[in-house]
Amino acid sequence: MRYTVLTLFPEITDAFFATSIMARAIERGIVEYSAVNIRDFALDRHRTCDDAPYGGGPGMLMLPEPLGRALESVGVRRRMPGEELSLRRKRAIYLTPSGRPLTQTLARELSGLDELVLLCGRYEGIDQRVVDMYIDDEVSVGDYVLSSGEVAALALIDATYRLVERVITPESLDEESFSGGLLEYPQYTRPEIYDTVKVPEVLLSGHHGNIRRWRLEKRVERTLRQRPDLIPAGMESGLFDGETREIVNRLLPLSGTEHKENEDERD
Ligand code: ADE
Repeated sequence: MRYTVLTLFPEITDAFFATSIMARAIERGIVEYSAVNIRDFALDRHRTCDDAPYGGGPGMLMLPEPLGRALESVGVRRRMPGEELSLRRKRAIYLTPSGRPLTQTLARELSGLDELVLLCGRYEGIDQRVVDMYIDDEVSVGDYVLSSGEVAALALIDATYRLVERVITPESLDEESFSGGLLEYPQYTRPEIYDTVKVPEVLLSGHHGNIRRWRLEKRVERTLRQRPDLIPAGMESGLFDGETREIVNRLLPLSGTEHKENEDERD
């Protein structure tokens, strides 16, 4: 996987690529990275990259020329009418709160491509013509507004590179949050008793069957509590196996009762 980041502040993304698991993935040649400073493609000697929006309104927008030139410099071409995006192994992505949400499913899809070119916005956004001419995909990392697209790009990079083959062991991905449509189970390490609170007995039992079952129950319980919106999708899509469905069906009425009680309290 190759990440090419277009930014006014390459030092923000550089730092991430020099750290920990990512640094190792780079060293092993599994991941490649380069940052392009958009300011290097400005047209004037002041290296201007922003201007006020036509039609008025607050803030400044990023100018189209430096962005277009920066994109072309890394091999992103203007899109042809009717061009089939799904056949392309390289994708130009603009990070914006107006984009489609970054989910684990989208992260998995992107992690299978050869190259992601990530365009980071600043100010109030970028000239729409750049999006229309060059951008394949607009992605949001959540329903809130960040002051910098770089932070959003790093979230996308982090969510995708770890799914690239050989970066981490496949077992580490098996039971983490969102795999199989559920959140992760709670985990414990030493000491066995921390400030009077003991590690759940079942985890000390060495009984693998019981531990597996307990963890699955905890995943369902936690998902019902924190992210009930994930449950119908899992039940309807066939993502949950028979055992998971049975646990959901047993715990669902309990979580419903709890919810109702809270409502009653408010009355
Ligand atoms: N830039 C600013 N806010 C953002 C968000 N929520 N997602 C992606 N890019 C952004």
